[in-house]
Amino acid sequence: MTVSESGTSALDVDTDDERVAGLVDLVTVADGTTDTIPVEAPFDGEQVGAIPACGEADVDVAVERAREAQQSWADRSIAEREEVLSRFQDLVLDRQSELLDVVQLETGKARRTAFEEVQSCALTAGYYSHRGERFLGREKRKGVVPGMTQVEVNHTPVGVAGLISPWNYPFELALSDALPALLAGNAVVLKPAEQTSFTALKGKQLLEEAGLPADLFQVVTGRGPDVGPAMTDRVDYVGFTGSTETGRIVGEQAGRNLLKYSLELGGKNPALVFPDADLDRAVEGLVHGSFSNAGQLCISIERCYVHEDVYDEFLERFVAATENVELGTGYDFEAEVGSLVSEEQLEKVTEHVEDAKARGATVHTGGEPRPDVGPYFFEPTILTDVEMDMDLCCEETFGPVVSVYPFSDTDEAIAEANDTDYGLNASVWTGDTEFGREVARQIRAGTVNVNEAYAAAYSSIDAPMGGMKDSGVGRRHGPEGVKKYTEPQTVAVQKGQGMAPPDGVPYWLYAKVTTGALKLFDKVPGLR
Ligand code: NAI
Ligand code: MG
Repeated sequence: MTVSESGTSALDVDTDDERVAGLVDLVTVADGTTDTIPVEAPFDGEQVGAIPACGEADVDVAVERAREAQQSWADRSIAEREEVLSRFQDLVLDRQSELLDVVQLETGKARRTAFEEVQSCALTAGYYSHRGERFLGREKRKGVVPGMTQVEVNHTPVGVAGLISPWNYPFELALSDALPALLAGNAVVLKPAEQTSFTALKGKQLLEEAGLPADLFQVVTGRGPDVGPAMTDRVDYVGFTGSTETGRIVGEQAGRNLLKYSLELGGKNPALVFPDADLDRAVEGLVHGSFSNAGQLCISIERCYVHEDVYDEFLERFVAATENVELGTGYDFEAEVGSLVSEEQLEKVTEHVEDAKARGATVHTGGEPRPDVGPYFFEPTILTDVEMDMDLCCEETFGPVVSVYPFSDTDEAIAEANDTDYGLNASVWTGDTEFGREVARQIRAGTVNVNEAYAAAYSSIDAPMGGMKDSGVGRRHGPEGVKKYTEPQTVAVQKGQGMAPPDGVPYWLYAKVTTGALKLFDKVPGLR
């Protein structure tokens, strides 16, 4: 592991770093809320500022304001709403450097990884800004009696969407789910992770600059248990991204309230490397796929199954490439991998690795914290001989740690890949893309990438993204990602004869004629 030389590793400000100055004023707080939560920079552990520790009273104010603002927003044309997204896309791209600074400051991630957030959010804003009418415009549907029943479907907004977002991709995961909700005519109340609220507030600032009415996007900061449940009791939709454990709590409460909801949760994502794979590409892709954002990515690779014919060669090259990964704290694009987000996260990753080591796993590279680089850094780590009794085997580690296993046939590899409670993402490496697609279709995961780790599927915004099994409920991106924020409403107009026997016609005759008509309708393609 080499350490990037170029970075500034010490911030000399104690509180209210100038990069986040003034952002706290954008939080919705009720009178009387005075408690705060310190926010630290993981690069050096210094405090950069503080955010309000909101609770029920603050959520109350936020939802009320959001609800009021939503009325007139929903009355605006789809084209007007699209324009805000389009301007937001421009601002995200043009003002990326201030955004990247705040993301890095709060998460300690490498600037390259922070840029992935800018890229993703810009793609999402651009995608939806051109498809409002297509996904949300009024539709004509087939009526029951041809020519006499006229049916339209209106995609009406749910009202106020509550979003709860995590710290790992704080800009992407807070904003990219808000954009389709706003496009669909909703207001949004966002509860960002307590570690990364300034990034979310930066997003609010840019949305307002793009022309979004200020009250339409409310940010309530604070601890999950203080804000989350109060929100789920007041909003019309809840969208959560984070751990499976917390997702279950949100889902239970949403179910009790009969709310629509979506959950994007954890993964223990597998990669399958077949003997005909281009090993250079596979190694490069899996270094990125396993260690990007120090592995704190729901779709990152934590298990790697390699065919026995290429196992030794792959492992050797994978280890060598991993040893060249540059760790660093710089606010430039030099370092490839940054810090873990917090002491808590460092402890969890260290425990997983220590437990595996103690139970007989072999460390091929990494395996240790790197306090010489920063307080929460952990080396990119490759393990083999990982067994079912180790925490690391089946639980999401959410760190720069990947286990490599050999396999001898395709069915065995697919079975191993599927032998998990999770089903978020998977990756298949082969020289035969048709074979790759066939393998992919047999993996129970919401996204599967062939000859890529995660970015091909995730960045294809036109296609749905989300988890099967314990990895989630619902999808983001594509038509699915915006229609979920609507209540489809069917309006049917019946002309002429109603849906009952005409006056004087006995029911037996009506039943006979209707039966004949049903048979005929099924035979004539134009009437089906
Ligand atoms: P978390 O899932 O508890 O937090 C995510 C968000 O939910 C945060 O905004 C948090 O404040 C909020 N939250 C917490 N408790 C809540 C509750 N009772 N009701 C409503 N909202 C609540 O994740 P946390 O504690 O930050 O990290 C714990 C572990 O979760 C990590 O070690 C990692 O393994 C996993 N994780 C997975 C993510 C993923 O995308 N797959 C993202 C973040 C964490
Ligand atoms: Mg938690």
